[in-house]
Amino acid sequence: MTEQETILSLRAKLHQHNYNYYVLNQPTVSDKDFDEMMHRLQELEALHPDMYDPNSPTQRVGSDLNNEFATVVHNRPMLSLANTYNRAEVAQFYQRVSEGLGGAPFQVCCELKFDGLSISLHYSHGTLMRAVTRGDGVQGDDVTPNVRTIRSIPLQLPSHLSYPDEFEIRGEVLMPWSSFQKLNSQREDTGEAPFANPRNAASGTLKSKDSRVVASRGLDAYLYYLLGDEIPFDGHYQNMQAARSWGFQVSNEMKLADSLQDIYDFIDYWNEARQHLPVATDGIVLKVNSLSQQRHLGLTAKSPRWAIAYKFQAEQAETTLRQVVYQVGRTGIITPVANMDPVPLAGTIVRRATLHNADVMQQLNLYQGCRVLVEKGGEIIPKIVGVAQTEEHPLRPIHFITHCPVCGTKLVRFEGEAAHYCPNETGCAPLILGRMEHFISRKAMNINSLGPETLDNWFQQGLIHDAADLYNLTTEQILTPEGGGEDIARKIIRSIDESRHTPFEQVLFAIGIRFVGEIAAKTLARHFRTMQAVADATIDDLLQVDGIGMVMAESIIRYFHDTNNRNFVSRLAKAGVKMELSEDVLSTQTDLLAGQGIVISGVFQHHSRDEYKALIEQHGGRNVGSISAKTSFILAGENMGPSKLEKAQKLGIRIVSEDEFLRMIES
Ligand code: IVH
Repeated sequence: MTEQETILSLRAKLHQHNYNYYVLNQPTVSDKDFDEMMHRLQELEALHPDMYDPNSPTQRVGSDLNNEFATVVHNRPMLSLANTYNRAEVAQFYQRVSEGLGGAPFQVCCELKFDGLSISLHYSHGTLMRAVTRGDGVQGDDVTPNVRTIRSIPLQLPSHLSYPDEFEIRGEVLMPWSSFQKLNSQREDTGEAPFANPRNAASGTLKSKDSRVVASRGLDAYLYYLLGDEIPFDGHYQNMQAARSWGFQVSNEMKLADSLQDIYDFIDYWNEARQHLPVATDGIVLKVNSLSQQRHLGLTAKSPRWAIAYKFQAEQAETTLRQVVYQVGRTGIITPVANMDPVPLAGTIVRRATLHNADVMQQLNLYQGCRVLVEKGGEIIPKIVGVAQTEEHPLRPIHFITHCPVCGTKLVRFEGEAAHYCPNETGCAPLILGRMEHFISRKAMNINSLGPETLDNWFQQGLIHDAADLYNLTTEQILTPEGGGEDIARKIIRSIDESRHTPFEQVLFAIGIRFVGEIAAKTLARHFRTMQAVADATIDDLLQVDGIGMVMAESIIRYFHDTNNRNFVSRLAKAGVKMELSEDVLSTQTDLLAGQGIVISGVFQHHSRDEYKALIEQHGGRNVGSISAKTSFILAGENMGPSKLEKAQKLGIRIVSEDEFLRMIES
């Protein structure tokens, strides 16, 4: 086999394994074998840039090529569905269909209504050509690079199967509960506001400009509608089974109903059972199964006459509000929580509900002892949706607090954010713990023998007051009767000890300056080189640095303005934690590309895209996503996109080849 043939064969195999794993949940190779094949393919593709294929399994990881979403007009408009909320309305639909068909027999396909965002996929000869969001139904955004990272969406259908040459398949992109919970807990760790529900999270993710972000968030997709001129069957249900056999993820929970009673049974069953699904659903969709009957029934302006949605009721209950308490999160976010008289709701007894933030509370107009309506909707935590009107005179109104319930510090609210924060990062227990957890985390000091619980215990016992105290601990101090033997204690001390070698850029991330993430810490470390220089920097100095904006600059100033923080940092320094860039980083570091914004485009022979990115940073340059008048030059490999090329030419931006670039940084 030539290398070219091996590439094609590996691609086909990996597509199949990917399908087995992500759609069937039945992998037939080990992760290790899969990774090896993938690695081999990556190597071969690097040797044969002429064989670049955006649909290769290697492209699932996404890239930072900026996607300016192009607007695309749908071949056939993406209609929405009329909603129904009760059996009577479903019966009316059934009756209308029956009359519309002149009393002829018909079947209804019952399916789950997935709660994500709809997507239209276009395949030509088995290859995914384009993925477009619903938009306004007439035109949507081309999000193809992002959709390619969703593992359950096939990029290339196996060539031996018989599917139409051209077809469109529509479905729902969603974020499974498991990915959603993981994402939100990460966001809480970094002080970002969590997404309210999986739909918002999926939609925010799919519109991301960086497809690597999309790749990392574990989106999934279910397909539910096949369109085209050569569709195999007259039955929608049969078409969906065919689509499944071609490699699409089609829900197993579809049923053909022969009567209204069958439909009710489906609704009743899923009304309960949906709680156990791995993804969010908000109703049932009913579709007349026969495509010819669908055509006969036709459309209204907004929705088809042959289909309808039945929306699950968000279950509600009424109870009495006793008290509002305020939780202080690890990043200082204050969350108001309502304590209520216990009330049964959707299978559990509810006593507490979130009130989200001050704005939500104010809109609700709560007062002590009022009757409230509680709902369990698309969110896991119940929420208060309203106050029941009563004859009684309102008693004491409840207002959001002004000071932290833990430490008494006056709360702050950052511009444009809904949340209030406790700003007392060095004196308020939950925040101190949050900072310590961040300090030991993998991308920070990576002290992996420690966990949040141990920190919490030591803090309660007064053994440590902040992360700098970790470096003074002795084995004897952390030996506890219940806490395991000397071996464990010694291991912990050793890993704390080793963390003294953590590179400076990670230390800068670890000390917990609000809004300074991993990337910004790296940028700052490269620019200022020592902690002292960062601490001494003025707002203007900071704003000079590419990639550092006003919010971050102000936060850095605020951090080093605080005596507690300055003490903390100097105690770390005394403990031997790295406070400057190491010699090896410095010795390879140059200013050859200082101040230059560089776009990377195309496929490369000598280094990977990430390696080029690192090289640019190492030499003082900055990798930017999209071409603009400010771009210094484009580092272009093979197959640079035609629209990029055109833009570059229009703006007169220099195009630098791979070899040219390597010579540039050699000198
Ligand atoms: S069929 C013309 N089937 O619900 C029929 N839609 O309110 C097109 N949805 O925009 C849609 N699950 O985003 C269909 N099994 C399902 C669905 C479904 C979720 C969404 C879809 C659509 C919206 C309609």
